[in-house]
Amino acid sequence: MNINKVVLPVAGLGTRTLPATKALAKEMLTLVDRPIIQYAVEEALSAGIREIIFVTAQAKKIIRDHFEPNTMLEQELARRGKQDLLELVKNIPPPGTVCRYATQPVPLGLGHAVLCARRLVGDEPFAVILPDDLIHHPTDTCLQQMMEMYQEKNASVVAVENVAREQVSRYGIVETGNDVDGVKKMKSIVEKPAPHEAPSTLAVVGRYIFTPGIWPLLETTRRGAGSEIQLTDAIAALLGKEDVYLCEFQGTRYDCGSILGLMRANVEYALRHDVIGAEFEAYLADLVKNNGV
Ligand code: UTP
Repeated sequence: MNINKVVLPVAGLGTRTLPATKALAKEMLTLVDRPIIQYAVEEALSAGIREIIFVTAQAKKIIRDHFEPNTMLEQELARRGKQDLLELVKNIPPPGTVCRYATQPVPLGLGHAVLCARRLVGDEPFAVILPDDLIHHPTDTCLQQMMEMYQEKNASVVAVENVAREQVSRYGIVETGNDVDGVKKMKSIVEKPAPHEAPSTLAVVGRYIFTPGIWPLLETTRRGAGSEIQLTDAIAALLGKEDVYLCEFQGTRYDCGSILGLMRANVEYALRHDVIGAEFEAYLADLVKNNGV
């Protein structure tokens, strides 16, 4: 069955990016020339998904505003003859994209946020992207790579990446089972283990494809690590019923939920940017030559 829907949970508090995110949703922080959330939507579209389900907190109306027409702005750009900018603005999101919104009234955790989208997703397989986990690949996005694996296996797929052992306590960490045709299966998963207790250094990052089998398990997941309803615990329960495959994706990941990760992403995306890339590179080279600011 095709994947037609993606869930974007964007109802977190963003405490790591305060004070920038006191009033502004962290997914609206800028990465060069567009908000972080727009990269997630673009990745979903790259994988052929047309229905985007945002799980937002009540206070995050600004995310909805970004993906709805801004008639006043469009009329003014047209009046000023700024055709390029008009096309740019009208194309967010591109025609044919359907945006829907579910509310997570209280930030009870990622598992709970995904569950809030159940009614809008229904009884079909779906993808999840955590927008603050930004993944760059010049040609095949992470979700495209996962989609290929899903088409082949017809089972849930999660994206994983090797991290330093001292960082495992920030992630869901997996134990791998046997390879099936060169693809690893998940054997077990544990949320935020201590470095000496982690079964490996393979961390789950913010991309998932789930069969509808995850729904009843999310419904019954109780509060776990950090007193939050953890997606990891529902995945652990899914392992008792279905196969879950691991996608060791190609690409560079940026943790845009942290200030350092966001700055790294801003520098590297700016260097790759069509319009400002060359000038920005010259500026950086100059800065380094002069030993910084
Ligand atoms: P994070 O772990 O980054 O948590 O959430 P956070 O609350 O957003 O940020 P910090 O750690 O306090 O800085 C991962 C993803 O899950 C969403 C977030 O919006 C982010 O996309 N999330 C998390 C929810 O939608 N609801 C929640 O209750 C928790």
